[in-house]
Amino acid sequence: MNIILLGPPGAGKGTQARRLTEDLGMVQLSTGDMLRAAVSAGTEVGKEAKAIMERGDLVTDEIVIKIIDDRLDEPDTEKGVIFDGFPRTLGQADALSDLLDRKGLALKSVVEMRCDDEQLVVRVTGRFTCGMCGEGYHYSFKMPAKEGVCDKCGSTDFKRRDDDNEEAFRTRLLNYYKDTSPLIGYYHAKGTLSPVDGTAAIDEVEKQIRAAITA
Ligand code: AP5
Ligand code: MG
Ligand code: ZN
Repeated sequence: MNIILLGPPGAGKGTQARRLTEDLGMVQLSTGDMLRAAVSAGTEVGKEAKAIMERGDLVTDEIVIKIIDDRLDEPDTEKGVIFDGFPRTLGQADALSDLLDRKGLALKSVVEMRCDDEQLVVRVTGRFTCGMCGEGYHYSFKMPAKEGVCDKCGSTDFKRRDDDNEEAFRTRLLNYYKDTSPLIGYYHAKGTLSPVDGTAAIDEVEKQIRAAITA
């Protein structure tokens, strides 16, 4: 089963993708995470993407499509993929459709995570993650059970993203409305779109997504 989590910055795509991978055996393909890894590793792609990501703009379709194309050739994707943050433009959506056809894969459903803009800014500016395992936290909504220690792996190293400031967030949100939201109509027309209430509590959103993707 292959699914797409579609939603604005801070909608909870990463949070929910991580939960779904735990028992469904699917892999999370986050183009944001892959690009951040390229930036940290200082690869050519990373050098090109760094400033664009810090501003909150989109990297080129060519770069992300190549990343996804290569990643889908790895055997762990056979059990199913949760696309997190990809596709993000109509060009990427068409390219994904071609890629899936070429690789003999199908798209089960596209989950649209609906949110409220002002809630998103609070989520994004309060977010931090474990530097070791990537578990996501939030200063108001999800602190580690023991202060300063990751619930999942026990690490005491936490980090924040360079684009999680209000200015870059506003640019990311504008780009979502301009370039990504047309995908809602695109997938609706294909009959694969399932909207969920992304403003609900994390457990409730998870329930709605599970119901949508198994329907
Ligand atoms: P990316 O990393 O994908 O960032 P994004 O889309 O802006 O989304 P986020 O990761 O910020 O949010 P999320 O939906 O994953 O929310 P999360 O679960 O963390 O992309 C970064 C950049 O890379 C882009 O700007 C672009 O430059 C580039 N890029 C990536 N993909 C690209 C592509 N395909 N094409 C071109 N460029 C690309 O949750 C947020 C916070 O809220 C967390 O603290 C969480 O704990 C909390 N939270 C989550 N759910 C809830 C809830 N229900 N209630 C309360 N709090 C919640
Ligand atoms: Mg994310
Ligand atoms: Zn951890």
